[in-house]
Amino acid sequence: MLEKITFDHPQLFIQAFENSAIGMALIAVNSGKFIKVNPALCNILGYEEHELLDLLITDITHPDENEQDLQIVHLLLEGIEHSCHSERRYIHKDTHEIWGLMSVSLVRDKDGNPLYYISQIQDITKRKLTEERFREGEDRYHRIVEESPDGVIILKDERCLFINQTGVEMLGLKKKREIVGRPIYDFIHPGDHNRFKQREMNKESVGPIEKRFIRMDGEVIDVELKTIPTIYQDRPAIHMIIRDISEQKQTKNLIINSEKLTIAGQLAAGIAHEVRNPLTAIKGFFQMMENDLKENKMYFDVISSEINRIETILNELLVLARPQEVKFEKKNIEVIINHVITLLKTQSNLNSIEIIMSIEPNLPLINCNENQLKQVFINFLKNAIEAMTQGGSIMIDIRKQYADRLVIRIIDQGSGIPIHLLNKIGEPFFTTKEQGTGLGIMICKNIIDEHQGEINIDSSSNGTKVEICLPFS
Ligand SMILES: Nc1ncnc2c1ncn2[C@@H]1O[C@H](COP(=O)(O)OP(=O)(O)OP(=O)(O)O)[C@@H](O)[C@H]1O
Ligand SMILES: [Mg+2]
Repeated sequence: MLEKITFDHPQLFIQAFENSAIGMALIAVNSGKFIKVNPALCNILGYEEHELLDLLITDITHPDENEQDLQIVHLLLEGIEHSCHSERRYIHKDTHEIWGLMSVSLVRDKDGNPLYYISQIQDITKRKLTEERFREGEDRYHRIVEESPDGVIILKDERCLFINQTGVEMLGLKKKREIVGRPIYDFIHPGDHNRFKQREMNKESVGPIEKRFIRMDGEVIDVELKTIPTIYQDRPAIHMIIRDISEQKQTKNLIINSEKLTIAGQLAAGIAHEVRNPLTAIKGFFQMMENDLKENKMYFDVISSEINRIETILNELLVLARPQEVKFEKKNIEVIINHVITLLKTQSNLNSIEIIMSIEPNLPLINCNENQLKQVFINFLKNAIEAMTQGGSIMIDIRKQYADRLVIRIIDQGSGIPIHLLNKIGEPFFTTKEQGTGLGIMICKNIIDEHQGEINIDSSSNGTKVEICLPFS
């Protein structure tokens, strides 16, 4: 049969056939029987030459490939294709699967009649297994990334290629593709860009570092991030893990603040206690002297009121230090305010500040602790006076709002509170004053909370408006 092969140098062909590292076979057109096989093919399929020559091509082809084979035969016999190539599975003698890269062509005689197929089979099992493992690895990577409780962003040249669902939620995106192609800097607070750019993220893992990210709704969140160099879609990229630590940070701050408060409270209690004892003695002796030295009455009045003031301050410190039993009684707010104004009159006069009152007549009584409310008004009025270094007027406006509450407005013409500090107001120890403790507003908030009321503060460079709402029933 081989003699029929129309080669110029048949010997050359046979040599190439026999010595080829690639499996080769000649296959009969009609029966599919092997006519000739080379040692490489025997090796690939695990058969001896004589065993293979007793078999048909279909005996060693994976059954799933049969349909494609019929098609190939059709293409070759009809002359539609001269040769066909495909990756396909074969069955080894010991029944395991082999992946082969197959090329087949049909050899015809001079008149164009089909003689046999010549087929080459290269063993690509190893490559296929590696590919499969790689694909499995990639699938696993995607699954792990997708289900990670942390946000993951894949970056290439500082642009986002991919984000997982956790990341989508963390940044308040509607769809994943909203982020694709965008620079990561669109999502990082401008104040944190520089530090970020300096990092050598392409070469080594970086982090964890803290950054502020900006959500789509504009909210700034604190994020801890770590980057790892990776390969994404066959190219070097950066795998960035982001974790929202805003809540954690807030809790930490709260703990720090509450610790500060405890310490301040203990200190205050200690000091108040120590000072109160000698003060009691001074007060007692002073009252005794008062009766003897009538001619200096004016001085005594001043000293007496100052001592009372010291006593009040000490009591305030003790309030701050430990929770006292707070008695609530129905009181007239107008009386309370007038009392406070009397107290602060001297200070306001000294600063050329006029206090203007506008109080709705016949206001209902408020169930409150009088002393605590006084403290609130003192604190707010003191703040107003301290903010009005150039003098001016402070407006106190009290009226009913809705059917069940009073609103007390203290409006000053002071320097105002800068917007970036507004959210710090009321935090313990936040002060911009040299002599301030930064406890004033915080204490007010606590007191008003206990009264089931609320405080709103509005401020601009023209002044500040403090609104205190208190329920009555
Ligand atoms: N009416 C106001 N006008 C301008 N700034 C204000 C006003 N009220 C409060 N502030 C700002 O808020 C900060 C905190 O006020 P807060 O009363 O809590 O503490 P303080 O006045 O600084 O200290 P303290 O009340 O203990 O003397 C002030 O330092 C000030 O910067
Ligand atoms: Mg104050």
